[in-house]
Amino acid sequence: MDKILIVGPASQILGIRIAQELGIQSINTEFKTFPDGENYLRINIEDEMEIKGKEVIIVQSTGPSSSGNQNTRIFELIMMVDAAKRMKAARIKLVIPYLAYSRQDKIFRPGECQFAYLLLNIIESFGIDEFYTVDVHAPKILKELSCKAVNIDSMKVLAEHIKSLGAKDIVVVSPDKGAVERSKAFAKHFGDDVPVEIFEKKRDVKTGEITMSGNLNLEKKDVVIADDIIATGGTMALAIKLSKEGGANKIYVASTHALLLQNAKYRILKAGASEIIGTDSIDNESSKVSLAKVIAEHLK
Ligand code: R5P
Repeated sequence: MDKILIVGPASQILGIRIAQELGIQSINTEFKTFPDGENYLRINIEDEMEIKGKEVIIVQSTGPSSSGNQNTRIFELIMMVDAAKRMKAARIKLVIPYLAYSRQDKIFRPGECQFAYLLLNIIESFGIDEFYTVDVHAPKILKELSCKAVNIDSMKVLAEHIKSLGAKDIVVVSPDKGAVERSKAFAKHFGDDVPVEIFEKKRDVKTGEITMSGNLNLEKKDVVIADDIIATGGTMALAIKLSKEGGANKIYVASTHALLLQNAKYRILKAGASEIIGTDSIDNESSKVSLAKVIAEHLK
């Protein structure tokens, strides 16, 4: 079956790179926000036969950026799927590298909604055939989908990049007990004996304020602090501070989804990180590692 890839507004670089990896045609979209705040999106084609009968791959991350917040990104992807279905796409594969709302997978306070699950239900109700995301915050939420759902792992490509920077005597530090399994898997990409150390993070569910504790001996070690998401950089800044206190040499901050909101870059670099390494799941200055190859492998 012929394939075509629709490059969503939020994934222009990654989308075109995936199409190039797959050797297939890509098309972009025309998008804007009307004066009343409503979103508009049009798949940029002149003839709807370009879509009819084809396998359509839609790539759209749902992170916030200067040209749209998460909700805009979600609406844009609904519009892409709906337009592709209306034009009689034979099959739709939806790739959402960064899945917004994935941290709302638990009830922290009475009266909350588990929006991570609801969002997946909404997405599935569009009638997609396959769903792909990358290092989703809580992989268990994907069980909500009855279509094929794949959580792609970015650890190998992130680790390869960090190794290429010359990091040595590496210790992988998990900034949170909840991230420890991921950190252990990540450490294996640096070598069988690379240790994993843990800080303990606590978040006040009412104020959102975080505290972190842990005494580690990191003398003469290059430290890689890995987390799935960097939002405001608060978690990373605390983990860097404690790593410095433990005597760390260089500190590399690695994250699949480096949203880098508010003062995150400043906080992380000021705390003492040598480098912030993110992927092109989020299109910004820390997108040093491309997910295109690893995503394309899954789409073949
Ligand atoms: C939460 O559990 C995530 O894994 C990240 O640790 C969190 O989103 C980071 O947020 P921030 O950068 O605002 O501390």
